[in-house]
Amino acid sequence: MSSGRICADIGSIRHPYDRPMEFKDVVATRRMVRNYKDRPVDEDSLRRIVRAGRKAPSAGFSQGQAFVVLTDQAVRSAVAELAGEAEYVADGLDPWISRAPAHIVVCVSEDAYHRRYNEVDKLQDGQETDWQIPYWWVDAGASLQNLLLAAVDEGLAAGFLGLHAIPGLKALLAIPAEYEPIGVVTIGHAAPDGRSRSLDRGWRDETHVVHHERWSDDWAPDF
Ligand SMILES: Cc1cc2nc3c(=O)[nH]c(=O)nc-3n(C[C@H](O)[C@H](O)[C@H](O)COP(=O)(O)O)c2cc1C
Repeated sequence: MSSGRICADIGSIRHPYDRPMEFKDVVATRRMVRNYKDRPVDEDSLRRIVRAGRKAPSAGFSQGQAFVVLTDQAVRSAVAELAGEAEYVADGLDPWISRAPAHIVVCVSEDAYHRRYNEVDKLQDGQETDWQIPYWWVDAGASLQNLLLAAVDEGLAAGFLGLHAIPGLKALLAIPAEYEPIGVVTIGHAAPDGRSRSLDRGWRDETHVVHHERWSDDWAPDF
């Protein structure tokens, strides 16, 4: 089906080894997919996706990111329960989380950054940087995006759930105290899903978002 929209038909993505996708197409095609076919994800694909998550940059090469890969149905169902999936399903949504054949829980350790920035080459006048920007969240986001894009590159689809039951998730997966799970990436073969109502907001106008040489004077909030 051709709707004339770049991101319209995720089902038409070919497997990368049938025909490699251009990077620009991977970026353009990626969208959050919230329903999956009852079909497992190839283990090698999953390995490459996790590797892409690891390959993200990190401040000072702290490498505070960590990943918990879940394929066991019982564990994925337990994650879905923590996410309150039953209530969403009762409201007519798909069992997005439990149906996804693979989950990758993206975690990050703030402590890893403090340790790294107390090493001699990172100290500033003997002090740790004041962390005006908490880079651990930046790096976790970079890993997240790499995972999402790598899934598309593998001919798969991915979604991201910001799971709020963090203590429960940490207990379920035995995540060490110093790591925070930022959320769950779901991976699988795309099935038809409902469009997020958030998308009704549309993309912000480029002139409000992209500035050249200096922030434009005519900038005005469009929200
Ligand atoms: C940090 C973050 C948290 C998100 N949390 C959720 C979530 O909990 N549930 C959900 O359905 N989508 C979640 N999303 C997906 C966004 O709604 C989605 O990325 C946005 O609407 C744009 O749609 P697209 O990614 O399909 O282009 C999250 C995205 C990000 C980046």
